[in-house]
Amino acid sequence: MARLSIIVLIIMALVFRTALSELCNPQDKQALLQIKKDLGKPTKLSSWLPNTDCCSPEWEGVSCDIDTKTYRVNSLDLNDLSLTKPYPIPSSIANLPYLSFLYISRINNLVGPIPPSIAKLTKLRYLYITHTNVSGQIPNFLSQMKTLLTIDFSYNALSGTLPPSLSSLPNLLGISFDGNRISGPIPGSFGSFPKHFTVLTLSRNRLTGNIPATLAKLELAFVDLSQNMLEGDASVLFGANKVNLQKINLAKNLLVFDLGKIRLSKSKDLQGLDLRNNRIYGSLPQVLTSLKYLKSLNVSYNNLCGQIPQGGKLQRFDESSYAHNKCLCGSPLPSCT
Ligand SMILES: *[C@@H]1O[C@H](CO)[C@@H](O)[C@H](O)[C@H]1NC(C)=O
Ligand SMILES: *[C@@H]1O[C@H](CO)[C@@H](O)[C@H](O)[C@H]1NC(C)=O
Repeated sequence: MARLSIIVLIIMALVFRTALSELCNPQDKQALLQIKKDLGKPTKLSSWLPNTDCCSPEWEGVSCDIDTKTYRVNSLDLNDLSLTKPYPIPSSIANLPYLSFLYISRINNLVGPIPPSIAKLTKLRYLYITHTNVSGQIPNFLSQMKTLLTIDFSYNALSGTLPPSLSSLPNLLGISFDGNRISGPIPGSFGSFPKHFTVLTLSRNRLTGNIPATLAKLELAFVDLSQNMLEGDASVLFGANKVNLQKINLAKNLLVFDLGKIRLSKSKDLQGLDLRNNRIYGSLPQVLTSLKYLKSLNVSYNNLCGQIPQGGKLQRFDESSYAHNKCLCGSPLPSCT
């Protein structure tokens, strides 16, 4: 009898100790279990169990803040979940107030708009919602989330226009909204993104109008506006202040400007320049021969004319990079006569 009660005591002590040594904050655990439920308990989250520690590595996609020893959930990575039927993004995500990193990706049955409750995540720095069927507008409330560094909503079914208020986010480093159904113009306010803003990728949408002259102020490193219906002059994206420029892709738009007049002399790190399928005229600027790191170039299907400058990396690209222009000539195209 005595031996039995000792065993019971030991078991109780063990259970109690496990409970005590659990690092997971009870509110966070409750929120996570609610998220699991709200997504129809996908198989990939089967390790999220009420009786285990959410800060342990078994909890797929969950990390706790060990640096500050608060052990609050600060990172949630929900990717490649196979949902049994369509579900919206769970509003219960808002009950993880210490979240700094939220990554939602490759979930094809994830539908509906981006929930306003996301705005309650006042410590969120990285927001990724990519490769889902999430639809509706890019919400205006994002501009209240002053901690945001990166917003990536690539490859969803988002529509509507770009919210001009995004440029008021004081710490923003980049936005990527590629592969949606976003229409309307690029807001002029986008020229007032903060100093360290370097990534602007809006490819594969339905953007129209001119590229605003205000963008001349930005010191962008990665620009992708390809596959839209943008018109007019894009020379504001080139210039003496573009010292960070590494890749610029403006392919498949309706751009019309004189390429001979663009300034690239300060863009010494430029690696990729894709201007194919526009209505760009003028000649290729001589400065292209001074770009040491140029790895890809395509100016085909434009209205360019004159001799391809000889030297630098320019003759490493094949004819298809220069083909279908008005009267470009010289190596690798046939010589000018
Ligand atoms: C969106 O849903 C369609 C079916 O309605 C599916 O074919 C497609 O793969 C989904 N897209 C994404 C990005 O999950
Ligand atoms: C350049 O673009 C044209 C038109 O899209 C394409 O056919 C060609 O293969 C491209 N060349 C290179 C080297 O990317």
